Amino acid sequence: MILKFSSLIALVAVAVAVHTASASIAATCSDGTQVPDKMCCNFIPLISALQNTLFMEECGEDAHEVIRLTFHDAIAISQSQGPAAGGGADGSMLIFPTVEPSFAANVGINDSVDSLTPFMSQFPSITAADLVQFAGAVALSNCPGAPQLEFLAGRPNATAPAVEGLIPEPQDNITSILDRFADAGSFSPFEVVSLLASHSIARADKVDPTIDAAPFDSTPFVFDTQVFLEVLLRGVGFPGTDNNTGEVESPLPLTVGSDTGEMRLQSDFALARDPRTACFWQGFVNQQEFMASSFKAAMSKLAILGHNRADLVDCSAVVPVPKPAVNKPASFPATTGPQDLELSCTTEKFPTLTVDDGAYETVIPHCPDGSMTCNDVRFRVQAVDY
Ligand code: HEM
Repeated sequence: MILKFSSLIALVAVAVAVHTASASIAATCSDGTQVPDKMCCNFIPLISALQNTLFMEECGEDAHEVIRLTFHDAIAISQSQGPAAGGGADGSMLIFPTVEPSFAANVGINDSVDSLTPFMSQFPSITAADLVQFAGAVALSNCPGAPQLEFLAGRPNATAPAVEGLIPEPQDNITSILDRFADAGSFSPFEVVSLLASHSIARADKVDPTIDAAPFDSTPFVFDTQVFLEVLLRGVGFPGTDNNTGEVESPLPLTVGSDTGEMRLQSDFALARDPRTACFWQGFVNQQEFMASSFKAAMSKLAILGHNRADLVDCSAVVPVPKPAVNKPASFPATTGPQDLELSCTTEKFPTLTVDDGAYETVIPHCPDGSMTCNDVRFRVQAVDY
């Protein structure tokens, strides 16, 4: 069945409304939050612990890493290989920290595993499986423009680690990426593209081992649609070296000191141009609310992979309200423009966007506040914090 793109917008709106309406009120937490089950109240002190000791209420490095962890924990499940291959969103990354985090596709994930591990003993009534997904929802709330994610509680913990080979990699072709998502949780190509909104708040430390924190768009601390625009622009160079697996040229590769130029993943490049996904990708450009609600709907599926929705308790009411969107329309970064667009979807009209002023290529700031040194956000270079 081929759905017109505008019909998809309506369908996503209905799906979000159904989820939102399902929670009833049966208890009131000490801070006044009304929840369907008092077990939801256990998560309220976890919010301040995460915000005050890890995220610092920033959409910075630690928040980004934990959001990536929600994906890598959950996607490790396979309908074709059966339950022994992995339990989905089961906290197996935290419970078996020497197994899955050492898989090549999980390179760098140990930072987030190490960050969350202390909270397991500090909050013994919360399973590791719930901790990963809840911490991801709290992390995301620090990113302006992000949706308030659904959070269902009550996932049992993993009893075994997942097998290797279930995490998509940037060098994978689109057929294998779409097949992997379908095998993990019957995700449609539209849902896969929706999940990639996460790369709006992402920077790579490991794809090019010579550079750290290479952002995937020019606004890595804001959950906006720039990534969908910038991945469509003609690539002109690499922010570091030019021979890395899974990396292709980006439109803003200029690196100045610790302000690292934009990096483009081969998988994002291909998803933006493949006939199965290009119209969905283009359709998110400058559609902030549609992108955010589509991401929320797809994350609701991802976060409960391996579990039955009916077995879980809807604790969404305790998820912090995200920082508001900056409300800046998508725009072509300085030195780029409509002439650089590589559009392969011809059935949808591309929006008219402004071009940022400036004769020089945009330098992408290294810290959430735009400065060069981040006091409140840990940033690691070769496992050393500074
Ligand atoms: C086709 C699927 C995907 C591929 C191939 C992919 C690949 C990658 C790669 C290679 C990195 C850089 C890691 C590093 O070098 O530090 C990365 C970062 C990231 N990814 Fe994905 N990813 C995919 C889907 C997702 C999804 C579904 C989510 C979340 C829902 C996600 C969230 C993130 C985040 C937040 C980061 C940034 C981490 C940081 O800044 O430390 N990714 N991804």
